[in-house]
Amino acid sequence: MTVKPTLLVSKYFDSNIKGYVDKTKGTESFLEEIKQIYGLEKILKFDLGENPEGPSPTLIDELKKFIRNLSLISEYPDSSYLRLREELAKFYGVKLENITVGTGSNELIERISRLWIEQGTKVIFPIPSFYRIEDAILRFGGVPVYIQLKDEENYQWTENTTNELIRTAKETKSKLIWLVTPNNPAGGIIPLEEIQKIIEKNKDCIIIVDEAFGEYIDSYRKPYSAINLIKSGIGNILVTRTFSKIYGLAGLRLGYCVGSNELIKLLERIRMEFAVNAVAEKLAIAALRDQEYIEKIRKKTSQRRKLLENSLDKIEGIKYYPSQTHIMLIKHKSKNLYNYLLKEGILVATMEISGLEGKNYIRITIRNEEENNILINAIKKFFGI
Ligand SMILES: Cc1ncc(COP(=O)(O)O)c(C=O)c1O
Repeated sequence: MTVKPTLLVSKYFDSNIKGYVDKTKGTESFLEEIKQIYGLEKILKFDLGENPEGPSPTLIDELKKFIRNLSLISEYPDSSYLRLREELAKFYGVKLENITVGTGSNELIERISRLWIEQGTKVIFPIPSFYRIEDAILRFGGVPVYIQLKDEENYQWTENTTNELIRTAKETKSKLIWLVTPNNPAGGIIPLEEIQKIIEKNKDCIIIVDEAFGEYIDSYRKPYSAINLIKSGIGNILVTRTFSKIYGLAGLRLGYCVGSNELIKLLERIRMEFAVNAVAEKLAIAALRDQEYIEKIRKKTSQRRKLLENSLDKIEGIKYYPSQTHIMLIKHKSKNLYNYLLKEGILVATMEISGLEGKNYIRITIRNEEENNILINAIKKFFGI
């Protein structure tokens, strides 16, 4: 029996709406199909911003505790995630009431959208940026108001971008401003002073700062994070962060949001009870305590990035954009680079997103030296070098 048309929500079937992501097609079946078509044994994944080193080895001891004591997984987690929030509060020097946790920062993007976006809500969204934010804005009926970062400025943030954003927010009466720093895909940051200017001029807006890659930048902790602005008493800003990237825990699905009591209280009100699992909470606490490991990954990534840049510098027909994180946007002269790499067993991200003109872009993740060399050699082969 087919479902009555009245039961279907028409807005989710409008294929003209840009930004919808087809989540029914997982990567598992895609990779299997590609392996069969090209006769590949394995595919190297440069497409998602995962940490190739995985999480801190100290987590193995934590995991052993779950094996020895199954009650740790047979019981419900603490519904307030007190221990994890205490640990985060201590780490950032904020209060417990300033933190809510979620199943990845994606879930926080959803929750923020559910609370503050309704039909027609204008949301300032500098592009190119993380497509899932645009997807959420659109699904909740919002209208993204784009601020275009420029290729000739390497898709980096400038004072002009701030001025244009402030002007546009006023003209369009936007309610939300969604910033990503370091940005995905080009990896540039928005200086904290620029975020401060934006806040000062937009007291009636909520400013969301996605810092999923925040730990990768050199001055990653206290000097840089917009969490410092919350500590200085600014009420209309939310900062989202995640354990998926440098912490190497993407499969656990754990993220958190820091903000003023008033905003966090609302996000807590619509939080699904027990959504974050007990294993994730325990492992995240252990991961957070091992900052030496985070520092090691940060340094390693920065060295690997320099090596990659040196190799890419030697390839004509390629332009890469200066990144402060573990992903890199590359522009190339041929449309077939993505397909060529796939045939060679290398999966990179296609970049058909708002704000990148043409299709000659790929995004890669910086992996280990051996894998990075395989990628570089494949790109060289493609360009006949
Ligand atoms: C900029 C940015 N924000 C948020 C996320 C979501 O990460 P997660 O839901 O795994 O925390 C990603 C993932 O790729 C990202 O690139």
